[in-house]
Amino acid sequence: MILGIESSCDDSSVALINSKNLELIYHKKISQELEHSVYGGVVPELAARLHTQALPALLNDIKPYFKQIKAIAVTNEPGLSVSLISGVSMAKSLSIALDVPLIAVNHLVGHIYSLFLNSEISIPIGILLVSGGHTLVLNIDKDGCIEILAQTSDDSFGESFDKVAKMMGLGYPGGAIISHLAQSASDKEKFKFSIPLRGDKRLEYSFSGLKNAARLAIEAQGENLQANKANIAYAFEQTACAHIMDKLKLIFKEQNFKHFGVVGGASANPILRRNISELCKDFDCKLTLAPLEFCSDNALMIARAGREKFLRKETLNHKELDISPKSRNLKL
Ligand code: KG4
Ligand code: ZN
Repeated sequence: MILGIESSCDDSSVALINSKNLELIYHKKISQELEHSVYGGVVPELAARLHTQALPALLNDIKPYFKQIKAIAVTNEPGLSVSLISGVSMAKSLSIALDVPLIAVNHLVGHIYSLFLNSEISIPIGILLVSGGHTLVLNIDKDGCIEILAQTSDDSFGESFDKVAKMMGLGYPGGAIISHLAQSASDKEKFKFSIPLRGDKRLEYSFSGLKNAARLAIEAQGENLQANKANIAYAFEQTACAHIMDKLKLIFKEQNFKHFGVVGGASANPILRRNISELCKDFDCKLTLAPLEFCSDNALMIARAGREKFLRKETLNHKELDISPKSRNLKL
């Protein structure tokens, strides 16, 4: 079995998979959403403290399997340093106690493997990765080399939902809250935000201007804010998704994708899922979506990514493994 440990942000998660047939043996995640929601975002010091409570409790659950663990895969980059340290320290201690090797897993590569939880990886593939920390369009070639085709120059897609939700006092994380609220919009035409970089050929995302437009609309409401929250959420979500789609269309015209995948916590967004599914039909491209249950951060994708490195014997000892919070190194 391969043990996966994820603690790069505000979710503590542990998973066990069978390294031969990828069977899921155990998976559990303890989310800190409630604790951070009062602050409208993740507070690193609080996240670290909660990881040190949750991770040992999860480990205690899988004690009966300890003897069958052959390697420990842990997220070591990128992420919040204090959060990464929690999982990495626990992984190192366990690797010494059980005398098994460690496997360093890049969190974004983990998200990519959420497309292949029960199957062998299929490449080449194009990827949209949308989360709280990232907005990336990637091309993975037949040799597994990853090229960044587009990224955000400021806020990420998921982060912009979080910030707009915070401005309206709706809690954290904002993605699902905004998306849900948008469905009850009474006047879908009431707010119109301009789509960022529309008509601009640059393959780049930018959400800060849209976030500020939403801020101005929210501030202008005064006493009418309550009545207009759903209408603002609707206009914001439509515009953010239209921006993702504008650039994706340009990329699809350039790249001859035969297979495209959508991953990351924000890939749960239903408008995005629907629009990308139509785009793929238009371009006769196979689409694979991360399962809703495993879009957001989880240790199953880390165990799954770690299993590939295990097969390639890319293992480390406790002295060799370190964290790299700002890593830009993307390699399958
Ligand atoms: O991948 P993830 O769990 O954590 C990071 O690696 O960042 O992604 C969490 C992000 C949050 O910003 C959350 O608001 C966003 O994903 N998200 C969504 C939706 N569900 C979650 N964003 C837009 N629409 C959604 N339905
Ligand atoms: Zn993530």
